Amino acid sequence: MKFSVCVGSACHVKGSYNVLLTLRQLVEEYSLHDQVEVTQMFCDGECVEGVKVRIDDQETVSLTGAATRDFFFEKCGHLMEQE
Ligand code: FES
Repeated sequence: MKFSVCVGSACHVKGSYNVLLTLRQLVEEYSLHDQVEVTQMFCDGECVEGVKVRIDDQETVSLTGAATRDFFFEKCGHLMEQE
């Protein structure tokens, strides 16, 4: 699974660094390096309400820093159960 966090200026102002850091910390915490990649992307011209995160280069979501943990568990919870 791959999460691409937008670091464009609008997303940056809305806290993309926080989202990026939280996702990286969670990957670390749950030792999911082999299965989850967290990377950055630039604005694709279609800004969203929160911080834009693209999942596997397909689905796009709008996140806030506070919602990042829940988002991670929703998407990666099944990977943790395999441990
Ligand atoms: S700045 Fe992030 S989608 Fe535009």
